[in-house]
Amino acid sequence: MSAATEPIVRADRVSKRFGALTAVDGVNFAVRRNEVTGIFGSNGAGKTTFFNLLTGYFVPDEGTIRYKGRDITHTPVRERVAMGMMRTFQLTSTFDNLSVVDNLVLAFYRAHRGHSLLRMLLSTCRRHRDEDKVMQALETFELGARRDMEVRHLSLGEKRRLEIAMSMLAEPEVLLLDEPLAGLAESEIRSVLDVLRRNSGSQTIVIVEHKISAVKDFVQRLVVMHEGRIIAEGGYDECMQHPEVRRSYWQIETDTVAEGRS
Ligand SMILES: Nc1ncnc2c1ncn2[C@@H]1O[C@H](COP(=O)(O)OP(=O)(O)OP(=O)(O)O)[C@@H](O)[C@H]1O
Ligand SMILES: [Mg+2]
Repeated sequence: MSAATEPIVRADRVSKRFGALTAVDGVNFAVRRNEVTGIFGSNGAGKTTFFNLLTGYFVPDEGTIRYKGRDITHTPVRERVAMGMMRTFQLTSTFDNLSVVDNLVLAFYRAHRGHSLLRMLLSTCRRHRDEDKVMQALETFELGARRDMEVRHLSLGEKRRLEIAMSMLAEPEVLLLDEPLAGLAESEIRSVLDVLRRNSGSQTIVIVEHKISAVKDFVQRLVVMHEGRIIAEGGYDECMQHPEVRRSYWQIETDTVAEGRS
């Protein structure tokens, strides 16, 4: 298989158990380059556990995870990040007493100039607030008006956009997002998705979401998990028509399919 057609991330027969519970059960999964893949499923389906296996927070009990063909099943998180797999939140925590622009500067320098945060903290921020990539991130993520505001004063949606912007500044090849829309108001969901959409096509994105209706126009391919297994995958309509999905998710039947048909 050539590098262009080979999945960028691939999981083969991956399982993870917590005691007697099999949270992820023999999952096969592939992410194609520059595609937006959604992982969807009800509470407790195993989405976050699977996400943690992909990103290196858990080691699977069985199975293999590959990145660009290389076995990374036992590769630590930090090394996966260096290889180009970036997840939001855990690795992009914000500094709430610093301004938006300074958080972006720090994210940029952490990604491109090593990890010595203390050394560069304030003096670097002052010198590099005009960095092109930082300016671009402020604009793309619609944070220009909040540039000099301390992060603790941002709304949840603005903070979420900042976290995603900080991840993007590292220019990851694969960006993994676990419920980036959780807790956001409708208008904030729209603005987070708008900025993500602007990057889709040139970025491989894996997004875990509980509420499928929010992301159905954003994802190109969907996998649906239930009780640790993938029960359907493909396009949105295809997945929604799948008998097992329809059986497992009465809430999809009642909200999302009805909405999709309207
Ligand atoms: N660290 C853990 N220790 C024990 N059990 C866990 C742990 N993490 C998850 N589980 C269990 O594994 C199952 C899958 O949980 P997981 O968090 O992966 O589901 P999820 O699909 O992300 O759900 P949600 O939509 O609520 O975020 C659940 O039954 C959960 O209780
Ligand atoms: Mg979860």
